Amino acid sequence: MSLIKLRKSNDINYNKERGLISSYIYNTRLRYYLTLSLTFVLLIILFIKQQFINLKQFTSYDTGILNINSNIKLENGYIITDFNQQDLLTLKPLQPSTINPSQFETWLTQEVVIARNKILKNIKFSGNENEWDNNIPLGVLTASPSRQSPNYFYQWTRDSAMTLNALVSDYFDNVETGQKIQIHDILLQYINNSIVLQRLDNLSGKFSLKDKYKGLAEPKFNIDSTPFNENWGRPQNDGPALRIITVLNYLKLLETNSLSVENFTNPNYHYTFNNELDILSNLIYYDLQFIVLNYEESSFDLWEEIVDRHFFTTLVQFYALEKAIKKWENFKLMYGIFPNNDNNLLNQLKTTHKVLLEYLLSKDNFINPYKGYVVESPNLLNIRSGLDIAVILASIVCHPSKSIINSDHLVPFDVYDSGILNTLYSLVQSMSIIYPINHPISNLNIGVALGRYPEDIYDGVHTSEGNPWFIATTSAAELIFKLIESYRVEEKPIVIDIWKTKFWSLFFHESNKFPWQKDLIVTIPYNSIAFNMTLDNLFKYGDSFFEVVRKHMSHEGEMSEQFNKYSGFLQGASDLSWSYSTFLDAIRARNKVQGLTA
Ligand code: NOJ
Ligand code: NOJ
Repeated sequence: MSLIKLRKSNDINYNKERGLISSYIYNTRLRYYLTLSLTFVLLIILFIKQQFINLKQFTSYDTGILNINSNIKLENGYIITDFNQQDLLTLKPLQPSTINPSQFETWLTQEVVIARNKILKNIKFSGNENEWDNNIPLGVLTASPSRQSPNYFYQWTRDSAMTLNALVSDYFDNVETGQKIQIHDILLQYINNSIVLQRLDNLSGKFSLKDKYKGLAEPKFNIDSTPFNENWGRPQNDGPALRIITVLNYLKLLETNSLSVENFTNPNYHYTFNNELDILSNLIYYDLQFIVLNYEESSFDLWEEIVDRHFFTTLVQFYALEKAIKKWENFKLMYGIFPNNDNNLLNQLKTTHKVLLEYLLSKDNFINPYKGYVVESPNLLNIRSGLDIAVILASIVCHPSKSIINSDHLVPFDVYDSGILNTLYSLVQSMSIIYPINHPISNLNIGVALGRYPEDIYDGVHTSEGNPWFIATTSAAELIFKLIESYRVEEKPIVIDIWKTKFWSLFFHESNKFPWQKDLIVTIPYNSIAFNMTLDNLFKYGDSFFEVVRKHMSHEGEMSEQFNKYSGFLQGASDLSWSYSTFLDAIRARNKVQGLTA
Protein backbone atom coordinates (compact mmCIF):
# COMPACT_ATOMS: atom_id res chain seq x y z
CA MET A 1 0.00 0.00 0.00
CA SER A 2 2.57 2.42 1.06
CA LEU A 3 4.59 1.46 -1.93
CA ILE A 4 1.70 2.34 -4.27
CA LYS A 5 1.22 5.50 -2.39
CA LEU A 6 4.77 6.31 -2.70
CA ARG A 7 4.62 5.69 -6.35
CA LYS A 8 1.64 7.88 -6.73
CA SER A 9 3.04 10.63 -4.62
CA ASN A 10 6.11 10.50 -6.77
CA ASP A 11 4.22 10.69 -10.05
CA ILE A 12 6.14 13.64 -11.32
CA ASN A 13 9.35 11.97 -10.52
CA TYR A 14 8.08 8.82 -12.09
CA ASN A 15 7.33 10.61 -15.31
CA LYS A 16 10.66 12.30 -15.12
CA GLU A 17 12.26 8.90 -14.69
CA ARG A 18 10.40 7.63 -17.70
CA GLY A 19 11.67 10.58 -19.62
CA LEU A 20 15.14 9.79 -18.41
CA ILE A 21 14.80 6.17 -19.38
CA SER A 22 13.51 6.99 -22.81
CA SER A 23 16.21 9.56 -23.33
CA TYR A 24 18.68 6.94 -22.06
CA ILE A 25 17.34 4.48 -24.60
CA TYR A 26 17.43 7.19 -27.16
CA ASN A 27 21.03 7.93 -26.18
CA THR A 28 22.09 4.28 -26.43
CA ARG A 29 20.53 4.06 -29.83
CA LEU A 30 22.28 7.24 -30.81
CA ARG A 31 25.48 5.87 -29.43
CA TYR A 32 24.93 2.67 -31.33
CA TYR A 33 24.41 4.51 -34.58
CA LEU A 34 27.31 6.79 -33.84
CA THR A 35 29.61 3.83 -33.20
CA LEU A 36 28.35 2.16 -36.33
CA SER A 37 29.01 5.16 -38.50
CA LEU A 38 32.34 5.75 -36.80
CA THR A 39 33.33 2.17 -37.57
CA PHE A 40 32.31 2.80 -41.13
CA VAL A 41 34.37 5.94 -41.34
CA LEU A 42 37.31 4.12 -39.78
CA LEU A 43 36.95 1.28 -42.24
CA ILE A 44 36.88 3.70 -45.11
CA ILE A 45 39.97 5.48 -43.78
CA LEU A 46 41.69 2.11 -43.39
CA PHE A 47 40.71 1.17 -46.92
CA ILE A 48 42.04 4.45 -48.29
CA LYS A 49 45.24 4.04 -46.27
CA GLN A 50 45.64 0.52 -47.63
CA GLN A 51 45.19 1.81 -51.17
CA PHE A 52 47.74 4.48 -50.46
CA ILE A 53 50.23 1.97 -49.07
CA ASN A 54 49.63 -0.27 -52.05
CA LEU A 55 50.28 2.67 -54.29
CA LYS A 56 53.42 3.43 -52.35
CA GLN A 57 54.55 -0.14 -52.62
CA PHE A 58 53.70 0.02 -56.26
CA THR A 59 55.84 3.05 -56.94
CA SER A 60 58.72 2.17 -54.66
CA TYR A 61 59.05 -1.40 -55.84
CA ASP A 62 62.65 -2.57 -55.38
CA THR A 63 63.58 -3.56 -58.88
CA GLY A 64 67.17 -4.14 -58.01
CA ILE A 65 68.16 -1.24 -60.19
CA LEU A 66 66.59 1.16 -57.71
CA ASN A 67 68.11 -0.77 -54.85
CA ILE A 68 71.65 0.00 -55.86
CA ASN A 69 71.64 3.18 -53.79
CA SER A 70 70.30 1.41 -50.74
CA ASN A 71 73.00 3.03 -48.59
CA ILE A 72 71.10 6.28 -48.76
CA LYS A 73 68.37 4.78 -46.67
CA LEU A 74 70.81 4.35 -43.80
CA GLU A 75 70.26 7.83 -42.42
CA ASN A 76 66.48 7.72 -42.45
CA GLY A 77 65.28 4.50 -40.93
CA TYR A 78 65.80 2.50 -37.80
CA ILE A 79 69.28 1.03 -37.36
CA ILE A 80 70.07 -2.24 -35.62
CA THR A 81 73.69 -3.14 -35.00
CA ASP A 82 73.12 -5.97 -32.59
CA PHE A 83 69.96 -7.53 -31.32
CA ASN A 84 70.67 -7.09 -27.61
CA GLN A 85 68.90 -3.92 -26.68
CA GLN A 86 66.72 -3.69 -29.71
CA ASP A 87 63.11 -4.55 -29.54
CA LEU A 88 61.86 -3.56 -32.98
CA LEU A 89 63.08 -6.73 -34.67
CA THR A 90 64.50 -9.81 -33.04
CA LEU A 91 66.04 -12.79 -34.76
CA LYS A 92 63.91 -15.92 -34.80
CA PRO A 93 65.73 -19.00 -33.57
CA LEU A 94 66.29 -21.58 -36.31
CA GLN A 95 65.71 -25.24 -35.74
CA PRO A 96 69.08 -27.01 -35.42
CA SER A 97 69.85 -29.40 -38.27
CA THR A 98 69.00 -33.05 -37.80
CA ILE A 99 72.36 -34.22 -39.11
CA ASN A 100 75.76 -33.33 -37.71
CA PRO A 101 77.60 -30.66 -39.70
CA SER A 102 80.57 -32.75 -40.80
CA GLN A 103 78.31 -35.56 -42.02
CA PHE A 104 76.33 -32.98 -43.93
CA GLU A 105 79.45 -31.55 -45.58
CA THR A 106 80.60 -35.05 -46.52
CA TRP A 107 77.23 -35.74 -48.08
CA LEU A 108 77.36 -32.50 -50.11
CA THR A 109 80.84 -33.30 -51.45
CA GLN A 110 79.83 -36.81 -52.42
CA GLU A 111 76.65 -35.67 -54.08
CA VAL A 112 78.50 -33.11 -56.22
CA VAL A 113 80.59 -35.93 -57.69
CA ILE A 114 77.49 -38.06 -58.27
CA ALA A 115 75.63 -35.17 -59.91
CA ARG A 116 78.53 -34.40 -62.30
CA ASN A 117 78.79 -38.04 -63.34
CA LYS A 118 75.05 -38.42 -63.79
CA ILE A 119 75.01 -35.39 -66.10
CA LEU A 120 77.93 -36.72 -68.14
CA LYS A 121 76.08 -40.03 -68.51
CA ASN A 122 73.11 -38.21 -70.05
CA ILE A 123 75.27 -36.58 -72.75
CA LYS A 124 76.72 -38.30 -75.77
CA PHE A 125 80.20 -36.89 -76.31
CA SER A 126 83.58 -38.07 -77.53
CA GLY A 127 84.38 -39.40 -74.04
CA ASN A 128 81.54 -41.94 -73.89
CA GLU A 129 80.27 -42.33 -77.44
CA ASN A 130 80.53 -46.12 -77.44
CA GLU A 131 77.86 -46.36 -74.79
CA TRP A 132 75.34 -44.71 -77.13
CA ASP A 133 73.61 -45.74 -80.37
CA ASN A 134 75.44 -44.80 -83.56
CA ASN A 135 72.62 -42.71 -84.98
CA ILE A 136 72.77 -40.25 -82.09
CA PRO A 137 75.04 -37.28 -82.83
CA LEU A 138 77.72 -36.09 -80.40
CA GLY A 139 76.68 -33.19 -78.19
CA VAL A 140 73.15 -34.52 -77.62
CA LEU A 141 71.84 -34.37 -74.05
CA THR A 142 68.81 -36.34 -72.98
CA ALA A 143 66.50 -34.77 -70.43
CA SER A 144 66.45 -38.14 -68.67
CA PRO A 145 67.34 -41.72 -69.61
CA SER A 146 63.73 -42.74 -68.89
CA ARG A 147 62.16 -44.19 -72.06
CA GLN A 148 58.72 -44.95 -70.70
CA SER A 149 56.35 -43.72 -68.01
CA PRO A 150 57.42 -41.06 -68.81
CA ASN A 151 59.40 -41.07 -72.02
CA TYR A 152 61.91 -38.26 -71.55
CA PHE A 153 64.46 -39.71 -73.97
CA TYR A 154 64.45 -36.54 -76.07
CA GLN A 155 66.53 -33.42 -76.27
CA TRP A 156 64.83 -30.28 -74.99
CA THR A 157 66.43 -26.97 -75.94
CA ARG A 158 65.82 -25.66 -72.42
CA ASP A 159 67.06 -28.68 -70.45
CA SER A 160 70.21 -28.89 -72.59
CA ALA A 161 71.04 -25.20 -72.21
CA MET A 162 70.37 -25.13 -68.46
CA THR A 163 72.37 -28.30 -67.82
CA LEU A 164 75.36 -27.29 -69.92
CA ASN A 165 75.35 -23.84 -68.38
CA ALA A 166 75.92 -25.55 -65.03
CA LEU A 167 78.87 -27.47 -66.50
CA VAL A 168 80.38 -24.23 -67.80
CA SER A 169 80.13 -22.59 -64.38
CA ASP A 170 81.42 -25.78 -62.81
CA TYR A 171 84.61 -25.32 -64.80
CA PHE A 172 85.57 -22.43 -62.56
CA ASP A 173 85.43 -24.67 -59.52
CA ASN A 174 88.23 -27.04 -58.84
CA VAL A 175 87.20 -29.81 -61.20
CA GLU A 176 90.14 -31.93 -62.30
CA THR A 177 92.01 -31.15 -65.52
CA GLY A 178 90.60 -34.21 -67.26
CA GLN A 179 87.09 -33.08 -66.57
CA LYS A 180 87.94 -29.60 -67.85
CA ILE A 181 88.95 -31.01 -71.25
CA GLN A 182 85.70 -32.95 -71.29
CA ILE A 183 83.77 -29.75 -70.73
CA HIS A 184 85.35 -28.20 -73.84
CA ASP A 185 84.55 -31.28 -75.92
CA ILE A 186 80.99 -31.35 -74.66
CA LEU A 187 80.33 -27.65 -75.22
CA LEU A 188 81.79 -27.60 -78.73
CA GLN A 189 79.88 -30.74 -79.67
CA TYR A 190 76.72 -29.23 -78.19
CA ILE A 191 77.26 -26.11 -80.31
CA ASN A 192 77.81 -28.28 -83.38
CA ASN A 193 74.58 -30.18 -82.76
CA SER A 194 72.67 -26.97 -82.00
CA ILE A 195 73.62 -25.57 -85.41
CA VAL A 196 72.02 -28.67 -86.95
CA LEU A 197 68.86 -28.44 -84.81
CA GLN A 198 68.41 -24.74 -85.61
CA ARG A 199 68.15 -25.50 -89.31
CA LEU A 200 65.48 -28.20 -89.07
CA ASP A 201 62.05 -27.10 -90.21
CA ASN A 202 59.57 -28.33 -87.63
CA LEU A 203 56.03 -27.86 -86.33
CA SER A 204 56.96 -24.54 -84.68
CA GLY A 205 58.14 -23.06 -87.98
CA LYS A 206 60.98 -22.71 -90.44
CA PHE A 207 64.57 -21.53 -90.39
CA SER A 208 63.98 -18.46 -92.53
CA LEU A 209 63.76 -14.72 -92.14
CA LYS A 210 60.40 -14.81 -93.86
CA ASP A 211 59.08 -17.07 -91.10
CA LYS A 212 60.88 -14.98 -88.43
CA TYR A 213 63.01 -18.03 -87.62
CA LYS A 214 60.07 -19.46 -85.72
CA GLY A 215 61.47 -22.98 -85.95
CA LEU A 216 63.96 -21.98 -83.24
CA ALA A 217 61.17 -22.04 -80.66
CA GLU A 218 60.64 -25.76 -81.10
CA PRO A 219 60.89 -27.10 -77.54
CA LYS A 220 62.17 -30.61 -78.17
CA PHE A 221 63.77 -32.88 -80.77
CA ASN A 222 64.24 -36.59 -81.15
CA ILE A 223 67.43 -37.96 -79.73
CA ASP A 224 68.85 -38.54 -83.23
CA SER A 225 68.44 -34.81 -83.95
CA THR A 226 65.41 -35.15 -86.20
CA PRO A 227 62.24 -33.10 -85.65
CA PHE A 228 59.65 -34.35 -83.18
CA ASN A 229 56.41 -34.30 -85.13
CA GLU A 230 53.76 -35.06 -82.54
CA ASN A 231 51.43 -32.79 -80.61
CA TRP A 232 53.21 -30.69 -78.01
CA GLY A 233 53.00 -27.37 -76.19
CA ARG A 234 54.78 -25.36 -78.87
CA PRO A 235 56.30 -22.88 -79.47
CA GLN A 236 58.33 -22.18 -76.33
CA ASN A 237 60.20 -18.91 -76.73
CA ASP A 238 62.70 -19.28 -73.89
CA GLY A 239 64.89 -21.82 -75.74
CA PRO A 240 66.95 -19.55 -78.02
CA ALA A 241 67.62 -17.14 -75.13
CA LEU A 242 68.84 -19.91 -72.84
CA ARG A 243 71.14 -21.22 -75.56
CA ILE A 244 72.62 -17.73 -76.05
CA ILE A 245 73.28 -17.45 -72.31
CA THR A 246 75.01 -20.82 -72.16
CA VAL A 247 77.14 -20.35 -75.27
CA LEU A 248 78.18 -16.79 -74.39
CA ASN A 249 79.11 -17.96 -70.90
CA TYR A 250 81.25 -20.64 -72.49
CA LEU A 251 82.97 -18.14 -74.82
CA LYS A 252 83.61 -15.96 -71.78
CA LEU A 253 85.14 -18.93 -70.01
CA LEU A 254 87.56 -19.40 -72.92
CA GLU A 255 88.44 -15.71 -72.91
CA THR A 256 89.00 -15.57 -69.14
CA ASN A 257 91.36 -18.53 -69.38
CA SER A 258 93.18 -17.13 -72.45
CA LEU A 259 91.93 -20.06 -74.50
CA SER A 260 90.23 -20.17 -77.87
CA VAL A 261 87.83 -22.40 -79.77
CA GLU A 262 90.66 -23.50 -82.06
CA ASN A 263 92.45 -25.11 -79.10
CA PHE A 264 89.68 -27.64 -78.70
CA THR A 265 88.16 -28.43 -82.08
CA ASN A 266 89.24 -32.05 -82.00
CA PRO A 267 90.52 -32.90 -85.53
CA ASN A 268 88.95 -36.38 -85.34
CA TYR A 269 85.47 -34.93 -85.38
CA HIS A 270 83.69 -32.83 -87.91
CA TYR A 271 82.72 -29.34 -86.77
CA THR A 272 80.73 -26.90 -88.87
CA PHE A 273 82.68 -23.99 -87.40
CA ASN A 274 86.33 -23.11 -87.01
CA ASN A 275 86.39 -20.30 -84.53
CA GLU A 276 84.45 -17.95 -82.30
CA LEU A 277 83.35 -15.75 -85.19
CA ASP A 278 81.70 -18.78 -86.83
CA ILE A 279 79.86 -19.66 -83.62
CA LEU A 280 78.57 -16.11 -83.28
CA SER A 281 77.63 -15.89 -86.98
CA ASN A 282 76.12 -19.34 -87.45
CA LEU A 283 74.42 -20.00 -84.13
CA ILE A 284 74.08 -17.03 -81.79
CA TYR A 285 73.20 -14.64 -84.61
CA TYR A 286 70.00 -16.57 -85.43
CA ASP A 287 68.94 -17.05 -81.82
CA LEU A 288 69.26 -13.27 -81.47
CA GLN A 289 67.28 -12.69 -84.65
CA PHE A 290 64.60 -14.92 -83.20
CA ILE A 291 64.33 -12.77 -80.07
CA VAL A 292 64.34 -9.48 -82.00
CA LEU A 293 61.61 -10.69 -84.35
CA ASN A 294 59.40 -12.51 -81.81
CA TYR A 295 59.85 -10.96 -78.39
CA GLU A 296 56.30 -9.63 -78.33
CA GLU A 297 54.73 -13.01 -79.09
CA SER A 298 53.05 -15.18 -76.50
CA SER A 299 54.25 -18.75 -76.21
CA PHE A 300 54.04 -21.81 -73.99
CA ASP A 301 55.75 -21.44 -70.62
CA LEU A 302 58.77 -23.40 -69.48
CA TRP A 303 56.41 -26.00 -67.99
CA GLU A 304 54.90 -26.46 -71.48
CA GLU A 305 51.33 -25.86 -70.37
CA ILE A 306 50.01 -22.31 -70.72
CA VAL A 307 50.29 -19.55 -73.31
CA ASP A 308 51.21 -15.98 -72.30
CA ARG A 309 54.16 -13.61 -72.21
CA HIS A 310 55.77 -15.17 -69.16
CA PHE A 311 58.19 -13.67 -66.68
CA PHE A 312 60.73 -16.49 -67.12
CA THR A 313 60.73 -16.19 -70.90
CA THR A 314 60.93 -12.39 -70.84
CA LEU A 315 63.71 -12.11 -68.27
CA VAL A 316 65.93 -14.72 -69.98
CA GLN A 317 65.38 -12.98 -73.33
CA PHE A 318 66.35 -9.65 -71.80
CA TYR A 319 69.45 -11.12 -70.17
CA ALA A 320 70.48 -12.87 -73.40
CA LEU A 321 70.28 -9.52 -75.22
CA GLU A 322 72.23 -7.81 -72.45
CA LYS A 323 75.06 -10.30 -72.82
CA ALA A 324 74.94 -10.27 -76.61
CA ILE A 325 75.13 -6.47 -76.82
CA LYS A 326 78.36 -6.54 -74.78
CA LYS A 327 79.73 -9.35 -76.90
CA TRP A 328 78.90 -7.63 -80.20
CA GLU A 329 80.47 -4.37 -79.05
CA ASN A 330 83.64 -6.05 -77.84
CA PHE A 331 83.91 -8.15 -80.94
CA LYS A 332 83.71 -5.13 -83.19
CA LEU A 333 86.30 -3.38 -81.05
CA MET A 334 88.75 -6.28 -81.27
CA TYR A 335 88.28 -7.47 -84.84
CA GLY A 336 86.77 -4.47 -86.60
CA ILE A 337 83.80 -6.44 -87.95
CA PHE A 338 80.42 -7.68 -86.78
CA PRO A 339 79.41 -11.36 -86.89
CA ASN A 340 77.77 -12.19 -90.21
CA ASN A 341 78.95 -8.77 -91.39
CA ASP A 342 75.60 -7.44 -90.21
CA ASN A 343 75.98 -3.82 -89.15
CA ASN A 344 72.32 -3.45 -88.17
CA LEU A 345 71.80 -6.21 -85.66
CA LEU A 346 73.47 -4.38 -82.77
CA ASN A 347 71.01 -1.49 -83.03
CA GLN A 348 68.09 -3.88 -83.21
CA LEU A 349 69.40 -5.64 -80.12
CA LYS A 350 69.61 -2.34 -78.27
CA THR A 351 66.11 -1.26 -79.23
CA THR A 352 64.60 -4.59 -78.24
CA HIS A 353 66.60 -4.57 -75.01
CA LYS A 354 65.14 -1.18 -74.10
CA VAL A 355 61.57 -2.17 -74.90
CA LEU A 356 61.90 -5.41 -72.93
CA LEU A 357 63.24 -3.55 -69.90
CA GLU A 358 60.27 -1.22 -69.95
CA TYR A 359 57.95 -4.17 -70.32
CA LEU A 360 59.57 -6.01 -67.42
CA LEU A 361 59.25 -3.01 -65.13
CA SER A 362 55.83 -1.85 -66.26
CA LYS A 363 53.18 -1.69 -63.60
CA ASP A 364 50.35 -4.18 -63.27
CA ASN A 365 52.16 -6.80 -65.26
CA PHE A 366 54.79 -9.01 -63.60
CA ILE A 367 54.95 -6.44 -60.82
CA ASN A 368 51.55 -6.59 -59.19
CA PRO A 369 51.06 -4.51 -56.02
CA TYR A 370 48.14 -6.61 -54.87
CA LYS A 371 50.18 -9.80 -54.92
CA GLY A 372 53.50 -8.75 -53.42
CA TYR A 373 55.28 -11.48 -55.39
CA VAL A 374 56.34 -11.43 -59.03
CA VAL A 375 53.64 -12.87 -61.28
CA GLU A 376 54.84 -15.47 -63.79
CA SER A 377 51.92 -15.32 -66.25
CA PRO A 378 50.05 -12.03 -65.71
CA ASN A 379 47.28 -12.52 -68.23
CA LEU A 380 46.17 -15.80 -66.73
CA LEU A 381 45.33 -14.66 -63.23
CA ASN A 382 41.83 -16.01 -63.76
CA ILE A 383 43.16 -19.57 -63.75
CA ARG A 384 46.44 -19.28 -61.81
CA SER A 385 47.72 -17.41 -58.77
CA GLY A 386 50.80 -16.40 -60.76
CA LEU A 387 52.99 -17.79 -57.99
CA ASP A 388 55.64 -19.97 -59.65
CA ILE A 389 59.16 -21.22 -58.94
CA ALA A 390 59.92 -20.18 -62.57
CA VAL A 391 60.33 -16.66 -61.18
CA ILE A 392 63.12 -17.81 -58.86
CA LEU A 393 64.73 -19.85 -61.62
CA ALA A 394 64.74 -16.78 -63.89
CA SER A 395 66.28 -14.58 -61.22
CA ILE A 396 69.12 -16.99 -60.44
CA VAL A 397 70.01 -17.86 -64.02
CA CYS A 398 70.11 -14.16 -64.94
CA HIS A 399 72.20 -13.21 -61.91
CA PRO A 400 75.29 -15.38 -61.88
CA SER A 401 77.66 -15.30 -58.95
CA LYS A 402 79.16 -11.82 -58.71
CA SER A 403 82.64 -13.22 -58.25
CA ILE A 404 82.62 -15.57 -61.27
CA ILE A 405 81.37 -13.88 -64.35
CA ASN A 406 82.25 -10.24 -64.18
CA SER A 407 78.78 -8.83 -64.21
CA ASP A 408 78.72 -5.12 -64.72
CA HIS A 409 75.24 -5.32 -66.17
CA LEU A 410 72.02 -4.05 -64.71
CA VAL A 411 69.50 -6.83 -64.95
CA PRO A 412 66.40 -6.25 -62.83
CA PHE A 413 64.91 -8.79 -60.45
CA ASP A 414 68.18 -9.59 -58.75
CA VAL A 415 68.14 -12.02 -55.85
CA TYR A 416 67.58 -9.25 -53.29
CA ASP A 417 64.62 -7.74 -55.13
CA SER A 418 61.63 -7.59 -52.80
CA GLY A 419 59.31 -9.25 -55.35
CA ILE A 420 61.73 -12.13 -55.85
CA LEU A 421 62.12 -12.68 -52.10
CA ASN A 422 58.38 -12.47 -51.58
CA THR A 423 57.92 -15.07 -54.29
CA LEU A 424 60.01 -17.48 -52.27
CA TYR A 425 58.15 -16.53 -49.10
CA SER A 426 54.73 -17.09 -50.69
CA LEU A 427 55.80 -20.39 -52.27
CA VAL A 428 57.02 -21.60 -48.87
CA GLN A 429 53.75 -20.55 -47.22
CA SER A 430 51.59 -22.21 -49.82
CA MET A 431 53.58 -25.41 -50.25
CA SER A 432 54.00 -25.94 -46.51
CA ILE A 433 50.28 -26.59 -46.58
CA ILE A 434 49.66 -28.36 -49.87
CA TYR A 435 52.40 -30.99 -49.57
CA PRO A 436 51.72 -33.31 -46.60
CA ILE A 437 55.43 -34.21 -46.27
CA ASN A 438 55.95 -30.61 -45.16
CA HIS A 439 53.41 -30.73 -42.34
CA PRO A 440 55.73 -32.04 -39.62
CA ILE A 441 58.28 -29.29 -40.36
CA SER A 442 56.08 -26.42 -41.44
CA ASN A 443 56.18 -24.73 -38.02
CA LEU A 444 59.91 -25.09 -37.55
CA ASN A 445 60.95 -22.16 -39.69
CA ILE A 446 63.17 -24.25 -41.95
CA GLY A 447 63.23 -25.03 -45.65
CA VAL A 448 60.38 -27.12 -47.00
CA ALA A 449 59.86 -29.22 -50.13
CA LEU A 450 58.88 -26.94 -53.02
CA GLY A 451 57.15 -27.66 -56.31
CA ARG A 452 56.54 -25.72 -59.54
CA TYR A 453 53.36 -23.78 -58.67
CA PRO A 454 50.46 -24.37 -56.28
CA GLU A 455 47.88 -25.37 -58.92
CA ASP A 456 50.15 -28.05 -60.47
CA ILE A 457 48.51 -31.41 -61.18
CA TYR A 458 51.28 -33.10 -63.21
CA ASP A 459 52.43 -36.18 -61.30
CA GLY A 460 55.44 -36.93 -63.48
CA VAL A 461 53.63 -39.34 -65.80
CA HIS A 462 50.00 -38.25 -66.01
CA THR A 463 47.88 -35.61 -64.43
CA SER A 464 46.54 -36.31 -60.94
CA GLU A 465 48.21 -34.35 -58.16
CA GLY A 466 51.31 -32.18 -58.28
CA ASN A 467 54.39 -32.98 -56.21
CA PRO A 468 57.51 -31.24 -54.97
CA TRP A 469 60.36 -31.04 -57.51
CA PHE A 470 64.11 -31.27 -56.95
CA ILE A 471 64.85 -28.25 -59.16
CA ALA A 472 62.32 -26.15 -57.22
CA THR A 473 63.64 -27.08 -53.77
CA THR A 474 67.29 -26.72 -54.77
CA SER A 475 66.82 -23.38 -56.50
CA ALA A 476 65.41 -21.98 -53.25
CA ALA A 477 68.76 -22.84 -51.64
CA GLU A 478 70.63 -21.20 -54.53
CA LEU A 479 68.61 -18.02 -54.15
CA ILE A 480 69.43 -17.80 -50.45
CA PHE A 481 73.16 -18.34 -50.98
CA LYS A 482 73.25 -15.73 -53.74
CA LEU A 483 71.42 -13.34 -51.45
CA ILE A 484 74.12 -13.83 -48.82
CA GLU A 485 76.77 -13.32 -51.48
CA SER A 486 75.26 -10.06 -52.62
CA TYR A 487 75.54 -8.68 -49.07
CA ARG A 488 79.01 -10.00 -48.37
CA VAL A 489 80.69 -9.33 -51.69
CA GLU A 490 79.11 -5.96 -52.31
CA GLU A 491 79.59 -5.10 -48.62
CA LYS A 492 76.17 -3.59 -48.38
CA PRO A 493 73.90 -3.26 -45.36
CA ILE A 494 70.78 -5.35 -45.02
CA VAL A 495 67.94 -2.94 -45.61
CA ILE A 496 64.64 -4.35 -44.50
CA ASP A 497 61.24 -3.03 -45.27
CA ILE A 498 59.59 -5.79 -43.33
CA TRP A 499 56.11 -4.86 -44.36
CA LYS A 500 56.90 -4.76 -48.04
CA THR A 501 59.29 -7.71 -48.02
CA LYS A 502 57.38 -10.38 -46.13
CA PHE A 503 60.30 -12.72 -46.74
CA TRP A 504 62.04 -11.19 -43.74
CA SER A 505 59.29 -12.33 -41.42
CA LEU A 506 60.79 -15.81 -41.84
CA PHE A 507 63.79 -14.51 -39.92
CA PHE A 508 62.55 -11.79 -37.59
CA HIS A 509 59.94 -11.33 -34.94
CA GLU A 510 58.39 -7.94 -35.28
CA SER A 511 57.70 -5.98 -32.14
CA ASN A 512 54.06 -4.97 -31.76
CA LYS A 513 55.19 -1.68 -30.27
CA PHE A 514 55.16 -0.07 -33.68
CA PRO A 515 51.89 -1.24 -35.15
CA TRP A 516 51.32 1.83 -37.29
CA GLN A 517 54.78 2.24 -38.65
CA LYS A 518 54.24 -0.37 -41.28
CA ASP A 519 56.49 1.31 -43.76
CA LEU A 520 59.40 1.66 -41.37
CA ILE A 521 62.75 0.75 -42.86
CA VAL A 522 65.25 -1.11 -40.72
CA THR A 523 68.91 -1.08 -41.62
CA ILE A 524 71.41 -3.60 -40.35
CA PRO A 525 74.84 -2.13 -41.12
CA TYR A 526 77.38 -4.18 -43.01
CA ASN A 527 79.52 -6.38 -40.78
CA SER A 528 77.72 -5.44 -37.56
CA ILE A 529 76.96 -8.18 -35.03
CA ALA A 530 73.36 -8.20 -36.16
CA PHE A 531 74.48 -8.43 -39.80
CA ASN A 532 76.62 -11.49 -39.17
CA MET A 533 73.98 -13.17 -37.05
CA THR A 534 71.38 -12.59 -39.76
CA LEU A 535 73.59 -13.96 -42.51
CA ASP A 536 74.44 -16.99 -40.37
CA ASN A 537 70.75 -17.72 -40.07
CA LEU A 538 70.25 -17.22 -43.78
CA PHE A 539 73.04 -19.72 -44.45
CA LYS A 540 71.39 -22.29 -42.18
CA TYR A 541 68.10 -21.64 -43.87
CA GLY A 542 69.71 -22.27 -47.29
CA ASP A 543 71.17 -25.54 -46.00
CA SER A 544 67.80 -26.65 -44.72
CA PHE A 545 66.55 -26.85 -48.33
CA PHE A 546 69.47 -29.19 -49.07
CA GLU A 547 68.35 -31.21 -46.06
CA VAL A 548 65.03 -31.77 -47.78
CA VAL A 549 66.81 -32.91 -50.94
CA ARG A 550 69.08 -35.22 -48.95
CA LYS A 551 66.11 -36.79 -47.25
CA HIS A 552 64.26 -37.56 -50.47
CA MET A 553 66.93 -38.57 -52.97
CA SER A 554 67.73 -42.27 -53.20
CA HIS A 555 70.41 -43.85 -51.02
CA GLU A 556 72.65 -43.90 -54.07
CA GLY A 557 72.27 -40.14 -54.48
CA GLU A 558 69.86 -40.33 -57.40
CA MET A 559 67.40 -37.57 -58.20
CA SER A 560 64.38 -37.88 -60.42
CA GLU A 561 62.14 -35.00 -61.46
CA GLN A 562 59.77 -35.04 -58.48
CA PHE A 563 59.29 -36.65 -55.09
CA ASN A 564 55.94 -37.80 -53.82
CA LYS A 565 54.08 -35.26 -51.73
CA TYR A 566 52.79 -37.92 -49.29
CA SER A 567 55.63 -40.44 -49.07
CA GLY A 568 58.62 -38.38 -50.24
CA PHE A 569 59.74 -41.15 -52.63
CA LEU A 570 61.27 -40.45 -56.04
CA GLN A 571 58.67 -39.85 -58.72
CA GLY A 572 58.60 -38.99 -62.43
CA ALA A 573 61.51 -39.13 -64.88
CA SER A 574 64.54 -40.80 -63.31
CA ASP A 575 68.01 -39.20 -63.27
CA LEU A 576 66.72 -35.91 -64.65
CA SER A 577 69.70 -33.93 -66.00
CA TRP A 578 68.19 -30.66 -64.89
CA SER A 579 67.77 -31.87 -61.28
CA TYR A 580 71.50 -32.58 -61.06
CA SER A 581 72.56 -29.36 -62.76
CA THR A 582 70.44 -27.22 -60.44
CA PHE A 583 72.06 -29.03 -57.53
CA LEU A 584 75.54 -28.17 -58.88
CA ASP A 585 74.51 -24.54 -59.34
CA ALA A 586 73.21 -24.31 -55.80
CA ILE A 587 76.31 -25.93 -54.30
CA ARG A 588 78.51 -23.52 -56.21
CA ALA A 589 76.54 -20.60 -54.78
CA ARG A 590 77.00 -22.10 -51.30
CA ASN A 591 80.75 -22.58 -51.79
CA LYS A 592 81.09 -18.92 -52.74
CA VAL A 593 79.80 -17.76 -49.37
CA GLN A 594 80.92 -20.52 -47.07
CA GLY A 595 84.33 -19.04 -46.37
CA LEU A 596 83.05 -15.50 -46.24
CA THR A 597 82.18 -15.19 -42.58
CA ALA A 598 83.34 -11.88 -41.27
C1 NOJ B 1 52.57 -31.97 -68.65
C2 NOJ B 1 53.54 -31.32 -67.76
O1 NOJ B 1 52.96 -30.45 -66.86
C3 NOJ B 1 54.62 -30.68 -68.53
O2 NOJ B 1 55.48 -29.98 -67.72
C4 NOJ B 1 55.33 -31.73 -69.31
O3 NOJ B 1 56.37 -31.18 -70.01
C5 NOJ B 1 54.36 -32.44 -70.23
N1 NOJ B 1 53.21 -32.89 -69.55
C6 NOJ B 1 55.02 -33.59 -70.93
O4 NOJ B 1 55.49 -34.55 -70.04
C1 NOJ C 1 58.74 -31.11 -67.97
C2 NOJ C 1 59.08 -29.74 -67.56
O1 NOJ C 1 57.92 -29.07 -67.24
C3 NOJ C 1 59.83 -29.02 -68.63
O2 NOJ C 1 60.25 -27.77 -68.16
C4 NOJ C 1 61.03 -29.80 -69.07
O3 NOJ C 1 61.64 -29.14 -70.12
C5 NOJ C 1 60.64 -31.20 -69.45
N1 NOJ C 1 59.86 -31.83 -68.43
C6 NOJ C 1 61.85 -32.06 -69.71
O4 NOJ C 1 62.61 -32.19 -68.56
